[in-house]
Amino acid sequence: MPHVVTSACVDHKYQECVAVCPVEAFREADTYLVIDPDECIDCGVCEPECPADAILQDSELTGSELDKWMNINKKYSNIWPNITEVGEVPADAEEWDGVPDKYENHFSEKPGQE
Ligand code: F3S
Repeated sequence: MPHVVTSACVDHKYQECVAVCPVEAFREADTYLVIDPDECIDCGVCEPECPADAILQDSELTGSELDKWMNINKKYSNIWPNITEVGEVPADAEEWDGVPDKYENHFSEKPGQE
């Protein structure tokens, strides 16, 4: 079972996770990343690297929260391009520290650069 990226990533997109992923499992939107569950080998190296604590192992979630983040990561893995190199972090990333419900209020489907 894979790791998933959750709401805390939205508008941060620090990409420390991309730098350590051994299987290039991340997919990129303009302001958010997801993990392709078919690529993730569940090694866990990305989880402690994220400054926003946005990455969780699926076993840390239950019920509707588990379904929600599994579905989001799976859905957008099939839509957004692969990201294998760390790019620019959004200029206003630190301004989003501690903002709740970023996925619900600030999420964009706009894909990242291929
Ligand atoms: Fe997002 Fe954290 Fe990676 S903010 S881009 S999951 S390092």
